[in-house]
Amino acid sequence: MKKVGTAVSARRRPLVVGNWKMNPPTLREAIRIITGFRRKVGVSLGRVDIVICPPFPYLAALRAKFSTLPLGVQDISAEKEGAFTGQVSAAISKSCGASLAIVGHSERRAAGDGDELVARKLAATLGAGLVAVLCVGETSRDLQGSYLRVLAAQIKASLSGVPADKLNKLVVAYEPVWAIGAGKTAIGPRELLEAALYVRKCLRDTLGAKRGAAVPIIYGGSVDGDNAAALISEGEVDGFLPGRASLDPYQFSEIVAAAASARRRAK
Ligand code: PGA
Repeated sequence: MKKVGTAVSARRRPLVVGNWKMNPPTLREAIRIITGFRRKVGVSLGRVDIVICPPFPYLAALRAKFSTLPLGVQDISAEKEGAFTGQVSAAISKSCGASLAIVGHSERRAAGDGDELVARKLAATLGAGLVAVLCVGETSRDLQGSYLRVLAAQIKASLSGVPADKLNKLVVAYEPVWAIGAGKTAIGPRELLEAALYVRKCLRDTLGAKRGAAVPIIYGGSVDGDNAAALISEGEVDGFLPGRASLDPYQFSEIVAAAASARRRAK
């Protein structure tokens, strides 16, 4: 399997990042999920970049057991090393097998990560040579469209200081907080399209037209095997960041298959 960093710079190759959050409760179960998923996913694997983000303590064991499976972490310390109890640095993550880090997930923002800390975590991730998946998303929507301002502000605050030579390792995940864990009808392809186009505009405004156009945008929030095909083909996104569905080998493989066939159609 291709390394995710290489693939991300070759834009339009779909990316599916499974965010396991604080699941499953045992390493044994984690191994069972990955084994089940690999049995199901078959031919899609070569056409889509897949990264699994397990809880930190499973990372090294999963790396040892599944040597070619790209792995990532769900959060990262902004600090390099030292007296930071409970934190895990980019270097430690990398040495245990991670090639990617999710930064600024709404569940981390709710736990206190502000824009400034998110920007520092992003810098630490990119500085260590990991792919960074920067999450942005509004908490709720309103008819006046002021939620778009939230997206613009998050993107500007996190990305203004990113050096140009690190941008090929950047992915932006649009994750509306109201759609996370909400179930099947959370977002429609039209709503996603509108937001993805706006995220693209913000990326161009912040990074410049050419660089802003090259950053992959993925979507997260109640993605499953049923809605993934419509969301990727009509929603103008390059992949997904599923949570709950990434713990279910069948659902996750359906999401990967939807991403693979969207790419075939786009060719
Ligand atoms: P969900 O989570 O797919 O369970 O809605 C997505 C996320 O929080 O990344």
